[in-house]
Amino acid sequence: MPKTLTTDRLILRGVTAADAPAYQKYFNDYEVIRQLGHHVPWPYPENGAADFIQNVILPEQDNDKWVWAIFLKTYPTEAIGAVDLWRKGSPENRGFWLGRPFWGQGLMTEAVTIVMDYAFDELGFETLIFSNAKGNIGSRRVKEKTGAKLIDVQPGKMVDPIYTEVEIWELHKYEWQAYRQNS
Ligand SMILES: CC(C)(COP(=O)(O)OP(=O)(O)OC[C@H]1O[C@@H](n2cnc3c(N)ncnc32)[C@H](O)[C@@H]1OP(=O)(O)O)[C@@H](O)C(=O)NCCC(=O)NCCS
Repeated sequence: MPKTLTTDRLILRGVTAADAPAYQKYFNDYEVIRQLGHHVPWPYPENGAADFIQNVILPEQDNDKWVWAIFLKTYPTEAIGAVDLWRKGSPENRGFWLGRPFWGQGLMTEAVTIVMDYAFDELGFETLIFSNAKGNIGSRRVKEKTGAKLIDVQPGKMVDPIYTEVEIWELHKYEWQAYRQNS
């Protein structure tokens, strides 16, 4: 299991099969799914989260791939989103989503901050690459707010066909350390 990480407001712990109902509840939302890569099915199947956790997340968990469920400290029994990190970039090394009721409170910025500390300080990453659909302002802002640099725009296909390009971002360990010292 990935190491459990905590922040002021959040607990991030490795996804388990028990998180499937909450994962399904918040992930099965077009406003969440439409921003993601086109391989995510829409309409989202009834057993989509349980299948994904069982067949995709758990077999790779902690094996150069780390998938944390996000919990509010004030309600630590229900996952409200997830952050994942993987060693072999595609080209990106990180993904995230948060249930819509929780958007706009700085929660994902808080979650990725502790995940990046862990990635650079404990997992040995020297560089992280991120990506988002060009036009996904929330995801873009999370990167801007955490010191990443936009390095490219490429053609891309998301669930919502309105998106046709992806922005690629880069963050080096030394930049993150400088950013953390000044923040
Ligand atoms: C992207 C996502 C994780 C952001 O989570 P969050 O907890 O709301 O993020 P934060 O609050 O830390 O930061 C979001 C920032 O984007 C801004 N933002 C969000 N939507 C915006 C919009 N339409 N226009 C302008 N700014 C917007 C917020 O104001 C905030 O910036 P600020 O702190 O400068 O005000 C969440 O919206 C989500 O899960 N979206 C669907 C899935 C997704 O897009 N995943 C990423 C795929 S690359």
